[in-house]
Amino acid sequence: PGQAHDILSPQFAEDPYSSYRVMRRETPLLWHEGMRSYVVSRYADVERAFKDSTFTTDNYAWQLEPVHGRTILQMSGREHSVRRALVAPAFRGRELQETFLPVIERNSRELIDAFRHTGSADLVGQYATRFPVNVIADMLGLDRADHDRFHGWYTSVIAFLGNLAQDPEVIAAGQRTRVEFAAYMLPVIRDRREHPGDDLLSALCRAEVDGTAMDDEDIRAFCSLLLAAGGETTDKAVASVFANLLRHPDQLDAVREDRSLVPRAFAETLRWTPPVHMIMRQAARDVPVAGGTIPAGSTVTCLIGAANRDEERYADPEAFDIFRTDLNSTNAFSAAADHLAFALGRHFCVGAMLARAEVEVGVNQLLDALPGIRLAPGELPVERGVFTRGPASVRVEFDPV
Ligand code: HEM
Repeated sequence: PGQAHDILSPQFAEDPYSSYRVMRRETPLLWHEGMRSYVVSRYADVERAFKDSTFTTDNYAWQLEPVHGRTILQMSGREHSVRRALVAPAFRGRELQETFLPVIERNSRELIDAFRHTGSADLVGQYATRFPVNVIADMLGLDRADHDRFHGWYTSVIAFLGNLAQDPEVIAAGQRTRVEFAAYMLPVIRDRREHPGDDLLSALCRAEVDGTAMDDEDIRAFCSLLLAAGGETTDKAVASVFANLLRHPDQLDAVREDRSLVPRAFAETLRWTPPVHMIMRQAARDVPVAGGTIPAGSTVTCLIGAANRDEERYADPEAFDIFRTDLNSTNAFSAAADHLAFALGRHFCVGAMLARAEVEVGVNQLLDALPGIRLAPGELPVERGVFTRGPASVRVEFDPV
């Protein structure tokens, strides 16, 4: 196969969407030699890989373990369901509404207050890259003076996970981060066991399901996962909602006038420009897929970004249209049935409701604080990234208040 099929080529990074189109049509099951992985691109095949337990998450042992340790993503069966039940309540329902929504609102407002009077800003550098990480640090109840350090670890973990070229310096920095992060977190976790509060860390220490609780190392690994899973993804989602709306000013106007459309803008953004473009699974046995066979033991790369634009699944899939009728946006969980940005099945994103709350707060506060928001002259947000992807900058202007 030519360049269009090479996920690691510069051409692909520049415009994956046209490669996805070719793959769905010509090579729905593809072997990528450099990645030592099969690749699936059609909605039905990606959906199946998420739902069918023949496709395991054993691959995360080599992908994530060096930087995070053992997390919920590597687990399966009862171990996974108990662990999920331990952590999930903090990210939905009353806990989210009553305890953490004020944290989200405060962190968003603080960032906006720093630039709202200036008439211009880069929504990536001055807002999106800080907002979700600050929220997680604050939810955990970490000392606010440590937010910058937390952000530094976040940057290093993300560089480690996105290190396609296997740069040894990035690997070494990732391993140093694991050590530093543990040295910081473990004493905080021990302290929280003795002096619990109403923060997320105390909730994780307290959590118990069927007589099982998490030890300090389990909690440290989960916090490390939260850095990447809850930070980079939501960061890209917030930036992309604005990049997409600003490039479609009629839809931006509609959202500004009618804020009940924000969930639609979020759902359509996750479909059209998902923060996570691909994740991997491992085939537990031979599986027939898209006219071929994935042999037992193989790695399978599931192209979320391609599945979300499958013409078999969506009308006019290449168009950004918050009014499309084939996408349900009533809540983050039902949206799961309509696009694959949060995956599906047992590993469906634990933080989907939190992410949705963050994006809704962020979009509403930004629209309120920045009247007349528009792209800065000459700015056309350019997406960067292969495994995860989002705008490199979204430079805007707005009317001074
Ligand atoms: C799982 C995407 C926000 C925490 C996942 C998965 C995806 C995803 C695709 C499945 C991974 C797999 O099956 O291999 C996203 C996107 C987000 C987002 C696009 C933002 C728009 C968050 C937030 C949190 C979070 C804010 C913080 C709590 C997690 C966790 C898992 C997960 C803990 C693992 C669940 C499990 O293994 O059972 N996410 N995520 N995510 N996400 Fe998110």
